[in-house]
Amino acid sequence: GKGSYDHYMLKEIHNQPTSLANTVEGRIEDDGVSLTELDTFDGVTDVQFVACGTSYHAALYGARLLNAAGVRARAFRASEYGTADPITDETLVVAVTQSGETADTLGALERAEAEGARTVAVTNVQGSTVSREADETLLVRAGPEIGVAATKTFSSQVAALCLLGHRIGEDVTGDLPWDDPTTFFESLRSLPENVREVLDGDRAHELADRYLGSEAFFFIGRGLGYSVAVEGALKFKEITYEHAEGFASGELKHGPLALVTPQTPVFAVFTGTDDQKTLTNAKEAQTRGAPIVAVAPEGHPAVDAADAHLPIPDTDPALAGLLANVQLQLVSYHTANLLGRSIDKPRNLAKSVTVE
Ligand code: F6R
Repeated sequence: GKGSYDHYMLKEIHNQPTSLANTVEGRIEDDGVSLTELDTFDGVTDVQFVACGTSYHAALYGARLLNAAGVRARAFRASEYGTADPITDETLVVAVTQSGETADTLGALERAEAEGARTVAVTNVQGSTVSREADETLLVRAGPEIGVAATKTFSSQVAALCLLGHRIGEDVTGDLPWDDPTTFFESLRSLPENVREVLDGDRAHELADRYLGSEAFFFIGRGLGYSVAVEGALKFKEITYEHAEGFASGELKHGPLALVTPQTPVFAVFTGTDDQKTLTNAKEAQTRGAPIVAVAPEGHPAVDAADAHLPIPDTDPALAGLLANVQLQLVSYHTANLLGRSIDKPRNLAKSVTVE
């Protein structure tokens, strides 16, 4: 049951220190990763991620990490994959799906297998269709998720893709997605405690109240922060039914800025990739009257410039986005709650989408 929580979604958000600990349990060593369920990736030339919705946002995160390790990698929306890049027998296709039953993702996997790719499923459900169809499976181990909106499964997918990214980097290029593996592993071990810090300091309720009734809600970020911006917006529209969009920070001035008014708060995600540029982009929106909410560590230059601040603990840049996303989960939840929405079962949506 929901225990003392009003909704499964809130319970699942608060379960993340535990679910993330489960994701990494037994899979990290002193300064390395142990994923014995997966064969070596030696010989892989490129990686294609296929996924939908929130899992697609985790896939964007994963592809970006692999790029940082010098590996050619791209994330595709599974429903658009039929006409996407060519596949060779040295292509690794990674299907990311919480449920393991999403028809679009299974369709993409089928194409990948027909064209001879090696396939890995990243899923939360042991024995799901995706894990039966793919060559190998990496379980994210987030535990069952009841709320239709994916929360803890996204966080665990991101953590699992960090582990996978480490292994693929080691095997394919010999490079890692992080500048300093020691710092990365320290941050990975502190992840449960850092998420708890975000949850304990929940200030999102007050912000949700302040911006209730706005015309639209925008989310911006770059690099890994871009995946968080689009995920923040998807969660927001899904459970609040309000208009929300996520943009690459640098794209704001190429069109979306025309939508910005004092009635459109902008949540700017700072994860350590060209933050100075994102701050400039956020200020462009602020000049047009939009309130800026900086999702950033204490002491970050964005904090003083912004109208409001959602803090994240200091951590490795690879994991800052995961913590920022927890703040955005709370903003969505509290806004939807103030609006009296059907949070665990949003209108028109289903937990598992088994049609194409
Ligand atoms: C959003 C959400 C959906 C799913 C998408 C893919 O909160 O839950 O966008 O992420 O339908 O589902 P899975 O991961 O089961 O393939």
